[in-house]
Amino acid sequence: MGHSSLMFRVQSGGSLRGELRVPGDKSISHRSIMLGSIAEGISEVSGFLAAADCLSTLTAFRAMGVEIEGPTDGLVRIHGAGLRGLRAPVAPLDLGNSGTSMRLMSGLLAGQSFDTELTGDESLNRRPMRRITEPLRSMGAQIETTAAGTAPLKIHGNALLRGIHYDMPVASAQVKSCLLLAGLYASGMTSVTEPAPTRDHTERMLTSFGYPWQRDGKRISVASGGRLIATQIDVPSDISSAAFFLVGGAIASNSDLVLRHVGINPTRTGVIDILRQMGADLEVRNSRMMGGEPVADLRIRTSRLKGLVIPEHLVPLAIDEFPVLFVAAACAEGETVLTGAEELRVKESDRIQVMADGLQHLGIDAVPTPDGMRISGGPLRGGRVDARGDHRIAMAFAMAALRARGAIEIDDCRNVSTSFPEFVDLARAVGLNITAIEGERL
Ligand code: S3P
Repeated sequence: MGHSSLMFRVQSGGSLRGELRVPGDKSISHRSIMLGSIAEGISEVSGFLAAADCLSTLTAFRAMGVEIEGPTDGLVRIHGAGLRGLRAPVAPLDLGNSGTSMRLMSGLLAGQSFDTELTGDESLNRRPMRRITEPLRSMGAQIETTAAGTAPLKIHGNALLRGIHYDMPVASAQVKSCLLLAGLYASGMTSVTEPAPTRDHTERMLTSFGYPWQRDGKRISVASGGRLIATQIDVPSDISSAAFFLVGGAIASNSDLVLRHVGINPTRTGVIDILRQMGADLEVRNSRMMGGEPVADLRIRTSRLKGLVIPEHLVPLAIDEFPVLFVAAACAEGETVLTGAEELRVKESDRIQVMADGLQHLGIDAVPTPDGMRISGGPLRGGRVDARGDHRIAMAFAMAALRARGAIEIDDCRNVSTSFPEFVDLARAVGLNITAIEGERL
């Protein structure tokens, strides 16, 4: 059984102009469903990202008995079941392409009184899960994986979890969040030390739900025994979706684009720092707080970019933006060097290899390394590249057409719907000459 293919065809050239509000933040949308479901009372979410990944989380909690209304125009109402109110699902929970759903929910489900099985699509069932199953097991969780340490995951209920301290070998917000959620069900204190700062939406949202936690330097701790109280959540636009337009506006001629209401949590703004260090004309305006998360409007204008040795401390803060930052590097003068980013090899695709293949095909000198890439900026030609089912790679190559000498065709773009279903329409509205073409069943 296959699925029908979707291809993007993007004519070369054009400018990005006007104003745009990109859809809601994916990380925050996932967490709103998870925490809302185990809270007491009705939580109301606005700006929820109604994309496949977040809908996988939403559907999974419905399957565990939580009443969830919406999403309707970004509004979701979650009738929280309380920390102990979830019910056994009747079938395995299919989380599609969503690593965030699988890793965060594993922690939460390890503490329940019933068994669950988590599975996903081909890509998700290839991604590494030992990074969560090993620390969860040391808390007392009972989880089975395949021999390769991948999903399907079988999580056995009624395990008595005990708090541990875990020194994370990789800077991963998913691992951190997984363990903090397990910590809500574990005896004593659960703490995690992160080697470098990672997105802190879980911690901020625990505060919004009235659940205490502590930070001491790089160590974050949570104890069981508290309650989450329903709240209202305003989800800002996703800076990871805005990033495509920031790069597009910078590399296209005669561009001037404003992106409204974008989340600028400092654990997410590596893309702003990197683009500015490359010389981008990027303004942050009207910074304000919305429900525990900072937001702002971002203005990008045509910029003369130069190559950059990307500081390694920015890597976790821009981890999802490298596909499109590689496109920026291809359009910059001189060499860009990325190191310390081996995590890119285990995302929805191997983002180092897939981006290097596509850029080389478009005439760019892009050299993949084990933990990053070296890219020499130069003229981009048109051609046909493969997104390999990775949403962010599809959108990154679409933006490359703004500077290419010929049209760019991108295969295997269906999964753009996992994070940004409105991409083609919004991109067209501000000036990208893009068409989505449905293919036959593969
Ligand atoms: C996410 C954390 C990051 C990121 C992913 C979303 C999250 O993953 O790449 O898209 O919502 O916690 P890692 O924790 O694996 O770096």
